[in-house]
Amino acid sequence: MLNSHPAHFLSLFLAFQQSVGASLTRVDLHKRYGDFSLHEQRDFGVEGRRLEGNIHVPLRIALKQQNLQSLANQLLAVSDPHSPLYGQHWTQAQILEAFSPSDDTHGVVRDWLRDAGFHDSAIKLSYNKAWIEVDGATARHVEELLATEYHVFEHGDEEHVACHNYSLPVHVAKHVDFVVPTIQPHIKLSTNNDYVRNSLQPRMAGTSIIRRSSSIAPLPSTQTRSLTGCDKMITPNCLKTLYNMSYTPKATDKNTFGITSYFSNTYLQSDLDTFFSNFSPALVGKSPSLVSINGGSIELDPTSDVGEDGWILQYSMTLAAPQNVQLLQINNPQIGERFTFNAWLDAVDGSYCSSDGGDDFNFDPQLPNPLPGGFNDHSCGTVKAPFVVSNSQSFSENQFSEFYRQRQCAEFGKLGLMGTTILYAAGNTGVTGAQSGYCLDDNGSMNLNATNFNPNWPASCPWVTVVGGTQVKANASLSSSMISTAEEVWNQEIIPGFFESGGGGFSNQFPKPSYQENSVNAYLSFLRRTDPKKLQNFNVKGRAYPDLSANANSFLDIANGTISIDSGTSGATPTVAAIITLVNDARLAAGKKPVGFINPSIYSPAFASAFNDVVDGVNTGCKGLQGVRDGGFRATTGWDPASGLGTPNLGKLIEKWLALP
Ligand SMILES: *[C@@H]1O[C@H](CO)[C@@H](O)[C@H](O)[C@H]1NC(C)=O
Ligand SMILES: *[C@@H]1O[C@H](CO)[C@@H](O)[C@H](O)[C@H]1NC(C)=O
Ligand SMILES: *[C@@H]1O[C@H](CO)[C@@H](O)[C@H](O)[C@H]1NC(C)=O
Ligand SMILES: *[C@@H]1O[C@H](CO)[C@@H](O)[C@H](O)[C@H]1NC(C)=O
Ligand SMILES: *[C@@H]1O[C@H](CO)[C@@H](O)[C@H](O)[C@H]1NC(C)=O
Ligand SMILES: *[C@@H]1O[C@H](CO)[C@@H](O)[C@H](O)[C@H]1NC(C)=O
Repeated sequence: MLNSHPAHFLSLFLAFQQSVGASLTRVDLHKRYGDFSLHEQRDFGVEGRRLEGNIHVPLRIALKQQNLQSLANQLLAVSDPHSPLYGQHWTQAQILEAFSPSDDTHGVVRDWLRDAGFHDSAIKLSYNKAWIEVDGATARHVEELLATEYHVFEHGDEEHVACHNYSLPVHVAKHVDFVVPTIQPHIKLSTNNDYVRNSLQPRMAGTSIIRRSSSIAPLPSTQTRSLTGCDKMITPNCLKTLYNMSYTPKATDKNTFGITSYFSNTYLQSDLDTFFSNFSPALVGKSPSLVSINGGSIELDPTSDVGEDGWILQYSMTLAAPQNVQLLQINNPQIGERFTFNAWLDAVDGSYCSSDGGDDFNFDPQLPNPLPGGFNDHSCGTVKAPFVVSNSQSFSENQFSEFYRQRQCAEFGKLGLMGTTILYAAGNTGVTGAQSGYCLDDNGSMNLNATNFNPNWPASCPWVTVVGGTQVKANASLSSSMISTAEEVWNQEIIPGFFESGGGGFSNQFPKPSYQENSVNAYLSFLRRTDPKKLQNFNVKGRAYPDLSANANSFLDIANGTISIDSGTSGATPTVAAIITLVNDARLAAGKKPVGFINPSIYSPAFASAFNDVVDGVNTGCKGLQGVRDGGFRATTGWDPASGLGTPNLGKLIEKWLALP
């Protein structure tokens, strides 16, 4: 049914005429819409039965935004340190005006749906015009509309729904990013079989928790103040010393710093206080300020363990003190640990969201939630984006469709254009997206024999800043002359035979952005000389990450009253976020703008001396290649896909950034 198929139009016409009556003749429809073109496809392997035609499918159409082709240049214009417009961030109104889908786009898609027999009352436009939602569509209707077939695939005891491909009339296709539900994996057929819904299972970038308990009367001052032992256990003083953090904030009333959280069990105030009493006594009694998104709350479920937020807050609050930290607490109704990042993007940028029930609901919680007890409020444009947002969660790039990634990445770019620094963890599994040892086959399937590196998401989007992991070398001295060589790539045997390391790699979708071209090409030349075979295992033209790194190894924190040792880029990311927050403080105090999207600055040669170049160590690889432990990328002088540009030196970063307008 691809390309020109008048017969298809006949059946489409008849199908809808039965239910609603059509407003155009078949000849008119054909004249208006002409050929179909293949829009997206994905290979799901062997399909099961055809989906029953009367099942309800919540159809959503992501409309093409205007002017996105200019986004990269606009973003670089305000964030390239050599640009005359450096720091001149856009307002939300300018963003809306520049990028919202045009009236023409809206009209074309609405007419197409109307001509296909959908009632006006069933076709809803989100208030920002970015999505169209169609109520009451059945599987058979949608199949006709998109020239496709839905099939049911068995996944354990769940039934998932997908189509291998779908098509749109050529004239409509240029106004549409993508349609859901179609080729997204993990779309669940609900057990009562009358609707289709989301069921994505992501992985946290986060935590490898090794919990050691002991009594925790205030720790002896040798442990809280001393720098010996930073190779075995990290405290805030180790980080302040490693990253030259002696700056005291002066503009906390103007500055903002946010941490995203997706879990209900976030933190215990008693844990924060125990930690603060040891490491930052002035903070005892202080809490992060709660920014509730979609009704997110910090009420603890007494039956389950505290999650990693306690650890993250203990460090981010201590390192940025006395700067207030916002906890962007996102409610995940019905889906437990299933989520993506659109909830917070919606909350901070009304131009992105779809208060009438849009988003890619296959990945994002569906709101209003149709299940009993579901949550109805959708935070849309209700939150002012903090200047720095720290995100410790991630996925694999291959979990999402190309158009979906494109759209989310553009949204990160828009936030950068408005002056927000978005930091994401690079993950804990080296070159393998989100699951240790799992690489990609040529057909894109993920398994333990595969040998193509498996990039992380959203690390592979060029408009976020990605934080990799380091560790203090065994027995390293943190005396000032030795600091710049004290760290190596984080690569830790978590349990015997199971290794974790800082994420790093190259996107299979996004090309290398101009700001990193020189740095990354220098690394590729190094590989050509030292390990040319590795060049076959990844896309040498792709966006490379991480951008920078920080310690990810063995943080001492307090969890439910006991000492816990946590490792992961979940801890490295808020550490860097606190550092950028302090840079923003210095700029705000000097009457300047926050730094916003930092990548063009940090890759510029002038900033090289503000990083400790990490030149030792290697991250983990594919099980199917040379084995996991050291099969990834080796660190070297300059940028590398194991440690990025290296670890930050706050004192010097402030000097560099104060020198910019
Ligand atoms: C992809 O290729 C691998 C072998 O290279 C095969 O085992 C797997 O079934 C293929 N997957 C799909 C979806 O075709
Ligand atoms: C689209 O999917 C159908 C199965 O639903 C398949 O028969 C057809 O070959 C696919 N077309 C393309 C271009 O992949
Ligand atoms: C804290 O620990 C106690 C017992 O050690 C346990 O019963 C409780 O569920 C834990 N609470 C949290 C929030 O982790
Ligand atoms: C990997 O390859 C081995 C040996 O060729 C085979 O036995 C195994 O089934 C493969 N595993 C996967 C996940 O493809
Ligand atoms: C670190 O010091 C300990 C104790 O002196 C020693 O056993 C160990 O070999 C040293 N490790 C390294 C890598 O130097
Ligand atoms: C640390 O930062 C200060 C400025 O705050 C700078 O003078 C000093 O040289 C830096 N120290 C190192 C070791 O880079």
